[in-house]
Amino acid sequence: MADHEAKAHHHDHPEDPQAHATRRAVLQAAIGVGAGAAVLSTLWVGAGLVPRVEKVPSKEPVAVGDTLVFAMGAKADQEITLDDLRAAQGAALPFIIAFPKSPENVIKKDLRNNTLMVILADPARMSPETRQHASPEGVLAYSAICKHLGCTVSQWINNNWVCPCHGGVYDIHNQARVLAGPVPAPVPQLPVRVEGGRVVVAGEFLGEPGADV
Ligand code: FES
Repeated sequence: MADHEAKAHHHDHPEDPQAHATRRAVLQAAIGVGAGAAVLSTLWVGAGLVPRVEKVPSKEPVAVGDTLVFAMGAKADQEITLDDLRAAQGAALPFIIAFPKSPENVIKKDLRNNTLMVILADPARMSPETRQHASPEGVLAYSAICKHLGCTVSQWINNNWVCPCHGGVYDIHNQARVLAGPVPAPVPQLPVRVEGGRVVVAGEFLGEPGADV
């Protein structure tokens, strides 16, 4: 057989077992890739169909730069000023329950853990850590959600901040140290400053807000 004939014969041989195996492997790989791509594209389409979680601005957590507004009462939704806090100092309830308001003017009242307390206190009575996160005037803010079972800490009894549900007592001058009651931990302080007479959030909560359950 001539040399060129031998080559032609080799190429034309349909049953060469090695060539057959190679073709099979290539085909299988191609099917595999195709199937993989199909699965991937299904996932891709599926991901597109999952409803997106819409951000609700009034449920966004308190953030640096927010101002504090009255949560309730005749001045509900109005910004709390240093004058308001001075006026509260002489009242039966010397603190104000507040919500944060974003620079875009959204009052973030629909997130429970955004319920805050703000008070004007004497810096000389504060522990150094507490004073560090208060304004120089003595404005202090805390989460108002009790660490026990999540009630709003809303009472003032015998010069102390008290939870009405089970009598938890917090020391506002000392990073809300627990003085009495079944409360497992202090509520976190929220750093604030006064800017243009308004109370502005100056840092993140110094701990986790909300009940410890
Ligand atoms: S929820 Fe505040 S003391 Fe129980």
